Amino acid sequence: MVAFKRPDGRKITDLRPMTAKVGVVPNADGSALFAFGDTIAIAAVYGPRLLHPQHMQDPKQAVLRVNYDLLSFSVYERKKPGPSRRSQEISKMTEYALSPVLDLKEFPNTVIDVQIYILQADAGTRTAGINAASMALAHAGLPMKDLVCSVAIGKQDTTVVVDLTKEEEDFHEGEGATDFPLAKIANSDQFTLVQLDGNISTDLIPAAIQLANDACAEIYEVQKKALKEGALQ
Ligand code: CDP
Repeated sequence: MVAFKRPDGRKITDLRPMTAKVGVVPNADGSALFAFGDTIAIAAVYGPRLLHPQHMQDPKQAVLRVNYDLLSFSVYERKKPGPSRRSQEISKMTEYALSPVLDLKEFPNTVIDVQIYILQADAGTRTAGINAASMALAHAGLPMKDLVCSVAIGKQDTTVVVDLTKEEEDFHEGEGATDFPLAKIANSDQFTLVQLDGNISTDLIPAAIQLANDACAEIYEVQKKALKEGALQ
């Protein structure tokens, strides 16, 4: 029995309303917008194109290069523009989350640039960014094994809940907030990102994974629908 109410009235399994659209950056090779409620991410893909300087090229495969940034007006307390340790970490984790679905060996010596910008942040920006980037890579027509879907699981009281807002993340008692972002390959059981900020008891992990699985199935449908709509335009 759940003894708490989520501030926006959602059930523990409810994602925020999702918005997804492709082709939002016409000059890019592929692009997409993905939003969880007030968290809005756009992703633009450029490439594969020859990587310069040459010494950075990999003759065996393409280099996937992700740049994630939280725009300074996206948060309540204005953020200093430019990269930070946080943005570098999220960029790297996003590369790891997306690489397994890409056939990088098909494009030796090249780079695939993925730019992710967060227009509005209300928690879950890395997961929204991964969802947008996965769609943008597909929109660019790159060969992919599958889409990647991503969501953060959190904790309210002692119950795991899906897709926390910043308000929910900031409201925590006792052992502190829990942010458990995951990404998975849509039509498989393979997770490509598992991070944990805070505490979660091992007893709760199976329930958290189940929540993420179910949420990713919903996210996948939203991503697919947007890609199909984009293909018709
Ligand atoms: O966004 P995500 O949950 O993936 O990463 P986080 O580092 O756990 O950040 C959680 C939230 O804190 C962000 O989504 C923003 O709403 C907020 N934040 C902020 O207000 N200012 C920052 N410089 C970084 C994060």
